[in-house]
Amino acid sequence: MNYRRLGGSGLKVSELSFGSWVTYDNQLDANAARECMAAAWDMGVNFFDNAEVYAAGKSETLMGEALGKLGWPRLKYVVSTKFFWGITDGPNEKSTLNRKYLLNAIDGSLARLRLDYVDLAYCHRPDPDTPIEETVWAMHDMIERGKALYWGTSEWSAEQVRAAWHVAERHHLRKPVVEQPEYNLFHRARVEREYAPLYDEIGLGLTTWSPLASGLLTGKYRSGVPSGSRGALPRMKFLVPALTDKAKNDAVARLAEVARELDCSVAQLAIAWCARNPHVSSVITGASRVEQVRENLQAAQVIGKLDGEVMARIDAIVAGLSA
Ligand SMILES: NC(=O)c1ccc[n+]([C@@H]2O[C@H](COP(=O)([O-])OP(=O)(O)OC[C@H]3O[C@@H](n4cnc5c(N)ncnc54)[C@H](OP(=O)(O)O)[C@@H]3O)[C@@H](O)[C@H]2O)c1
Repeated sequence: MNYRRLGGSGLKVSELSFGSWVTYDNQLDANAARECMAAAWDMGVNFFDNAEVYAAGKSETLMGEALGKLGWPRLKYVVSTKFFWGITDGPNEKSTLNRKYLLNAIDGSLARLRLDYVDLAYCHRPDPDTPIEETVWAMHDMIERGKALYWGTSEWSAEQVRAAWHVAERHHLRKPVVEQPEYNLFHRARVEREYAPLYDEIGLGLTTWSPLASGLLTGKYRSGVPSGSRGALPRMKFLVPALTDKAKNDAVARLAEVARELDCSVAQLAIAWCARNPHVSSVITGASRVEQVRENLQAAQVIGKLDGEVMARIDAIVAGLSA
């Protein structure tokens, strides 16, 4: 496993990391969650991603229990969480990035994670109702109070990221160092075009999500929705039209041929393709069982096989299918 700088910051994160969306509490109990983290750790992962809203706080609780039992030295791993949607009801508790919510929410997350601080705190979505100045000051204060070490955004527009960075620059505050956008073979535009000027301009780093487009890029949806998969979970039904899209599944079959030639699985090819982008600091993988963790993290060995010719073949296969 290689470790990359988180954008312009000095923090080093494993180029492949592990996150808990959908899986923790819904598919993985405490033991299975811990086993997945242990398997990831054994393969060199040092970065574990979470969010307050995942399983309404239970995902953080499970990760906190696992970290407690695994007993790794705190200096050796990086944990993130994210704030925006909230997990209780009230005008200052839901869908906000105001100062009151943010400086309260971090305490709940730290208690559930059983940590003194998180390494990374994200603003999970932009909040049009709170001035960016207020959010930037609150994230700065969260860091100054020792509750987070770095902060970033998730699915903010390039304009919003730039505006936050300039507020921080103007007032000598802690700057956002990272964005967390969706990035996979079928979802590329934001990372490759919209954010492009920001990599040099402000040293933006990326930790990217859904490298397998929720499982579509494993080939498991080519003949419909298999039982036990994410697409079969009642609360994830909204994903089914995208997961079973015929043109995309046909493209996955062609990607599988490329993968076979490279002696890897199509999931490994898809994950390695994300990590091949030098602007990506870490590709956050997800898994509902330990075998998937092991398969996916072996993608680290595939990154070097993606030369210009292979990349051109991949581009040709997904042409016209990527947003
Ligand atoms: N910032 C944000 O807004 C945001 C949004 C989404 C995710 N994230 C982060 O990104 C992480 C990864 O996202 P994701 O879970 O959507 O990633 P993904 O890689 O697109 O999908 C992971 C899912 O695909 C299936 N899968 C994974 N490996 C497989 C394999 N080798 N063979 C067959 N099936 C496999 C599993 O689901 P089944 O086995 O159930 O089918 C697994 O849970 C999340 O955990 C979270 O930390 C962030």
